[in-house]
Amino acid sequence: MGKQTVTALRDVSLSLPAGTLTALTGPSGSGKSTLLHLIAGLERVDSGTLDVLGSQLHSCTAAELSALRLREIGFVHQDFSLLADLTLIENVRLPLEATGTARKDAAAAAREAMGRVGLEGLEQRFPAEVSGGQQQRAAIARAIVGSRTLVLADEPTGSLDSKTGAEIMGVLAQLRDEGVTVVLSTHNPANLSHADQVAVLQDGTLLSFTTAEEGVA
Ligand SMILES: Nc1ncnc2c1ncn2[C@@H]1O[C@H](COP(=O)(O)OP(=O)(O)O)[C@@H](O)[C@H]1O
Ligand SMILES: [Mg+2]
Repeated sequence: MGKQTVTALRDVSLSLPAGTLTALTGPSGSGKSTLLHLIAGLERVDSGTLDVLGSQLHSCTAAELSALRLREIGFVHQDFSLLADLTLIENVRLPLEATGTARKDAAAAAREAMGRVGLEGLEQRFPAEVSGGQQQRAAIARAIVGSRTLVLADEPTGSLDSKTGAEIMGVLAQLRDEGVTVVLSTHNPANLSHADQVAVLQDGTLLSFTTAEEGVA
């Protein structure tokens, strides 16, 4: 930040087993987004190690990071981040087309991903023609399309009313039950009930970490 150095995360050590749902919580500025960006390969650690899906992200080249991101990792944003000029199914199949998947195969996979999040029948709608919850479902479909197994979601319910937010948490929990690894940040304590693991961050450090083995109360 200009000439000032901000330490966004320090001494954070955690393990996210495949097929679990981990919630990152803590006040604004505690480092939740930074941690998600690191796992996604969008930002890099200055020191330490980061092993994601068998890749050592701390020593990957920029090209290796983007290849991993494109093929294996889905990112869901608070504001959905769908392209307004594309239909929902066109949005969902984008990551596959970007990796050179044939159009027909990409369309079939996008249709399947949309079915998994409860969007069948809405394939040809534009984002502005569906509700916020349906837009977030489409963003989640885009994150899992082509059997991606790691979904990172930064405050996925932050722009939704509580009922719709609860539905979106239900979708993410169902994907977890199907074997997807989900890591999300949230301000909403109600969302923690779906989590197998809860990491509480404060000022860039890990205040507490309850693992799946210990069991979240
Ligand atoms: N691009 C940036 N430049 C400088 N400081 C940043 C930047 N991004 C985040 N920070 C700082 O890093 C810390 C963690 O931020 P962030 O990961 O966004 O927290 P959270 O998502 O929990 O609100 C905060 O102190 C924030 O101000
Ligand atoms: Mg944040």
